[in-house]
Amino acid sequence: MKEELLRRILSSYKGRKRDLIPILQAVQANFGRLPEEAMLRIARFIGIPESEVYSVASFYTQFRLTPLGRKHVTACRGTACHIRGAPHILREIEKAIGIKEGEVTSDLEYSLETVACIGCCALAPCIRLNRDVYGEMTPEKVKELFPASDEGEQDVQ
Ligand code: FES
Repeated sequence: MKEELLRRILSSYKGRKRDLIPILQAVQANFGRLPEEAMLRIARFIGIPESEVYSVASFYTQFRLTPLGRKHVTACRGTACHIRGAPHILREIEKAIGIKEGEVTSDLEYSLETVACIGCCALAPCIRLNRDVYGEMTPEKVKELFPASDEGEQDVQ
């Protein structure tokens, strides 16, 4: 973690309790996530238990405790997608990239999460890869989109 950067971020706040969310947002904007050491420093800076910082960070979906992969996959688990086979699509993606929902590959190539609705229900089942949405997904389309990585192949066996 870049100590100097964190110090600079903290120095622009007074350390009041109401600064917690803006500080978390600033740290995430600079580090891409909320590193554990940063949450400890934030807790000391504001004068609250680290558990309180952690519970706020884990409550809001805008905050991320783990880093994102270069290819971030979002699988929809909303009703329209569910009815049209989203659970099967999710399993195929997990098999192809070798990680489960909420995980990131060790080489940081892929991360995978699910959401309640991507907002393209007419194209269900949908997934998003970084900013691009792919609709009417099938297991074949999953294989095309995610050619098996070494890590994925190991887990498929
Ligand atoms: S339910 Fe999947 S896009 Fe809306």
